[in-house]
Amino acid sequence: MSPEPPPKTRGILLAGGRGTRLYPMTTVVGKHMQPIYDKPMIYYSLTTLLLAGIREVLVISSPEDLPHLRGLLGDGAKWGVDLSYAVQPEPRGIAEALVIGEPFIGDDRVLLMLGDNIIYGGLDFLRRAVAEPADGATIFVYQVKDPTAYGVVEFDERLRAISLEEKPAEPRSSWAVVGIYLYGPECAQRARTLKPSGRGELEVTDLNRTYLDDGRLSVRRLGRGVAWFDTGTPENLLEASNFVRAIETRQGLIIGSPEEAAYHAGFCSLARFESNVRGMPHSPYRACLERVLREERAELRSRRE
Ligand code: DAU
Repeated sequence: MSPEPPPKTRGILLAGGRGTRLYPMTTVVGKHMQPIYDKPMIYYSLTTLLLAGIREVLVISSPEDLPHLRGLLGDGAKWGVDLSYAVQPEPRGIAEALVIGEPFIGDDRVLLMLGDNIIYGGLDFLRRAVAEPADGATIFVYQVKDPTAYGVVEFDERLRAISLEEKPAEPRSSWAVVGIYLYGPECAQRARTLKPSGRGELEVTDLNRTYLDDGRLSVRRLGRGVAWFDTGTPENLLEASNFVRAIETRQGLIIGSPEEAAYHAGFCSLARFESNVRGMPHSPYRACLERVLREERAELRSRRE
C-alpha cells in the first residue's frame, strides 16, 4: 500500500498592522509596500510561500493597505497561483489571522507567514515540514545575538522545547521564533480560545504555547545556511536591502521574485514566465529576470543535447 499523501497546505500572508516603527514612511504607503532594495517587501514573503510549494494564498491586511496589495499582486493568475484577500479591521494580533482565515483554511493545513519576514537560503527545511503529515504545530527558530524583540524558545538538555516567551527582557536562550508557522486545521478553533494579551492582541506565542503544553509543538532549528530578517524598523530595512543587493549584484541571482518562484515551483510554464517578463516596463528588475530566463533556456538546451 502506498503511504497517505500529506494533507494539502494553504498559505496565509499576514500584512496588516500600522507599521508605526517605520513612521513617517508609512503615513501614506503601508509597511509591506516599502522597498527592500529593488522590490516591495511583500514580494519576499510571498516568494517564500510559493517556493514552499504553496499555491493558494490568502493575503490579510488592514482596510487601508489591502487595496494597494491587491493592486500590486492581483489574483495571481498570471503566476499560476490563487491569491485571495481578507481584511483585518484592527491589528488585534497575529493569531487573529487564523480566525479571519478560518473559512479559507477549512480542513487543510496552513502555513502562516508574516509579511515583514525575509527568509533566504536553502528552503528545504520548509518543503520538508510541509511534506510531513503532522497536524499539530511546527515553528522554526533561528539563533540571534539579541532575542529580546522576538518569541524565544528554551530547550532542555535533550533539545526538547520547554518554554516559549514573547519578547522576554531576560531571554532563556538565543533561539528566536521566525515569522513562519505551520498548523493543522484546528488552529483557528484554538486561536479563538485565546485571551487578548496586555497589548490587546491574540498572541501567536500564546497559541504556540497551547501546542507546547499539549506535546504537539515541533520546533525546528534553522542552520547557518539560512538568512532571516524581520524588517520592522528602518535599521532592519537597510540591513535587509544591503543583503539582497549584495547577493543580487555579486551572483546575478534574484531574491524575492514571485515570477521566478512560480516558475520554479512548477506553477507556470516557461512560456508564461517569459510573457510575464516581456510585459514589464524596462527596469533593473526586468533585466535581472531576463538574465534568469536566458540561463534557464541555456540549461534546458544543454539538458536536451
Ligand atoms: O518576526 C518574528 C516575530 O514576529 C516573532 O519572533 C514574534 O514571536 C512575533 O510576535 C512577531 O513579533 P513582532 O513584534 O515582529 O510582530 P509585529 O507586531 O511587528 O507584526 C509582525 C507582522 O505581522 C507585521 O508585518 C505586521 C503584521 N501584523 C501584526 C499584527 C500584530 C498584522 O498584520 N496584524 C496584527 O494584528
